[in-house]
Amino acid sequence: MQSILISGGNSGIGLQAAREFLARGHRVTLLGRDARKGEKALASLADARDRASFHAVDLSTHAGVRDAAQQVLAVHDRFDAVLHSTGVFTSKDIRTTDGLHPFFTVNYLSRYHLTQLMLPALRRAERPRVVMMTAKVPLSTPVDLSVFPRLEPFDFTRMRLPVQVANHHYAAHLADTEPSLLAGVVNAGAARTDILRMTPWYVRTMAKAAGPVFFDSLETSAHNVVEACLRQDWPAATYWDKPGDFDRRMPIDLDKATTGQLMTVSRDITGA
Ligand SMILES: NC(=O)c1ccc[n+]([C@@H]2O[C@H](COP(=O)([O-])OP(=O)(O)OC[C@H]3O[C@@H](n4cnc5c(N)ncnc54)[C@H](OP(=O)(O)O)[C@@H]3O)[C@@H](O)[C@H]2O)c1
Repeated sequence: MQSILISGGNSGIGLQAAREFLARGHRVTLLGRDARKGEKALASLADARDRASFHAVDLSTHAGVRDAAQQVLAVHDRFDAVLHSTGVFTSKDIRTTDGLHPFFTVNYLSRYHLTQLMLPALRRAERPRVVMMTAKVPLSTPVDLSVFPRLEPFDFTRMRLPVQVANHHYAAHLADTEPSLLAGVVNAGAARTDILRMTPWYVRTMAKAAGPVFFDSLETSAHNVVEACLRQDWPAATYWDKPGDFDRRMPIDLDKATTGQLMTVSRDITGA
């Protein structure tokens, strides 16, 4: 039985992945902000519920990530895999209490920070895996380090891809620095989930209308993360860009200087 930590596990693709891990006999620890959604998610797991737990945490702030790690490590000293499926989608220029944009902290920085704090528990597994979910991102996406980490003023159109490709840089960093660990990034595709809840009503209405034509099923969007978390026969660092096709994958081969600078920024602001 493998033990898998899922951030963003009370909803959408993370919850779908949790169901699949449980169906294959594994144990899951779910993280999410909304306690009621967490309780509802646990209740929906029926008999498998006794192999699942939920912690209500806010991963948008440094203190929230530290609190999450503390809660989880108080109960578990080993994880075989960490799946990062947290996400927010907003173009508004809003800020967390740390003065950072939540798109940056939830969709990238919390993945770095939480994984760093989980490394001792991951190192207890023979072949630990860290898998991060993003949208489709070209690996050639440039990162303008002069705007990181504050991203002020926030321009969603310009900053969406650089923030997400930071996950690929972190996967490359983990592959270089943690020899036994497999690190990968998966494109979620387009699945009908709660991800648009912070967008204006007309965006949600358009998505609802287009959904039946364009959206992937939850099973398709979760397929590659489930395989990546459970299998050990893939090379770190890997990017899966096509939902539902685990055999189609590419090595994450990025400019090492940019990776190094991004990791320095991430370490400096989180202290991890
Ligand atoms: N669905 C798509 O079409 C699509 C497209 C591209 C990329 N993605 C990516 O796929 C991943 C999964 O998203 P999804 O589609 O499954 O959407 P979702 O159902 O909205 O799931 C997002 C998860 O993130 C959690 N989360 C958000 N802010 C948080 C915070 N501050 N602290 C802790 N947890 C937080 C949510 O928990 P609460 O609800 O409790 O806040 C929820 O569990 C995300 O990384 C998303 O960016 C999805």
